[in-house]
Amino acid sequence: MSQDKGIAVEFRDVTLSKNNRSLVSNLNFTIRQGEALVLLGRSGSGKTTTMKLINHLFSPTRGEILFEGKPTTEWDEIRLRRKIGYVIQEIGLFPHFTVEKNVGLVPSLEGWKPKQIKTRVHELLNIVSLPPEQFAGRYAHELSGGQRQRVGVARALAADPPVLLMDEPFGALDPITRLELQKEFKRLQQELGKTVVFVTHDIQEAFVLASRIGLMYGGEMVFLGTPEEFLRSSHPEATAFMECIKSVV
Ligand SMILES: Nc1ncnc2c1ncn2[C@@H]1O[C@H](COP(=O)(O)OP(=O)(O)OP(=O)(O)O)[C@@H](O)[C@H]1O
Ligand SMILES: [Mg+2]
Repeated sequence: MSQDKGIAVEFRDVTLSKNNRSLVSNLNFTIRQGEALVLLGRSGSGKTTTMKLINHLFSPTRGEILFEGKPTTEWDEIRLRRKIGYVIQEIGLFPHFTVEKNVGLVPSLEGWKPKQIKTRVHELLNIVSLPPEQFAGRYAHELSGGQRQRVGVARALAADPPVLLMDEPFGALDPITRLELQKEFKRLQQELGKTVVFVTHDIQEAFVLASRIGLMYGGEMVFLGTPEEFLRSSHPEATAFMECIKSVV
């Protein structure tokens, strides 16, 4: 296997079209192991589509995506997805499972012992500020939207996958909880050395979390660089996002 050490994911000239229309086009970039790449962009710019290409929910029309050096089209899908924690935009908890069962799902599929799963689930619920004694036994409909999102984050972390895809995971949270969770997540990500791809349309969130920002516009990545480089970018879409910060302070 031609695994390029230090690179988790590589997009090589990737285009995805449906019904003769490009959802994303000409994507060429790499995601390094241990980095937090934030995909920033307005609604419909192609952020979720880019994520779904990584875990092969979408197949590219042209080009290829390498995961650990191997094209996603050649991976066994189940093995690939077990290596990639995924927090989807619509949360996607199983309604007939308790919080505890939702979070422990992948570890149990991987054959962990019940006691080990329970310890892990409780540890994660504490991390996302949902005390297990209060929340472990509840069902999705007994939670607020923000609490459901936090269960989604705990579930994605549960089996300790090397790569995490997080699609607006903090969207439904109030600004105070949101900032707390962003900071906690950043600490955790750096401590565990996880590779994270994080989608947001919130520039402030991008600045809290990103080691690099990939700016999506009209299905293309029009900028990729550190937050400092983003501040110096003269791309009109980058400037438009920076105007959003200025307009609230
Ligand atoms: N399965 C699909 N078939 C056809 N078009 C799609 C499909 N999924 C998304 N699109 C279109 O592709 C474009 C990019 O969608 P995508 O979901 O990637 O946007 P996004 O950046 O995640 O937006 P948002 O911030 O609103 O979630 C949009 O124009 C969308 O309508
Ligand atoms: Mg989206």
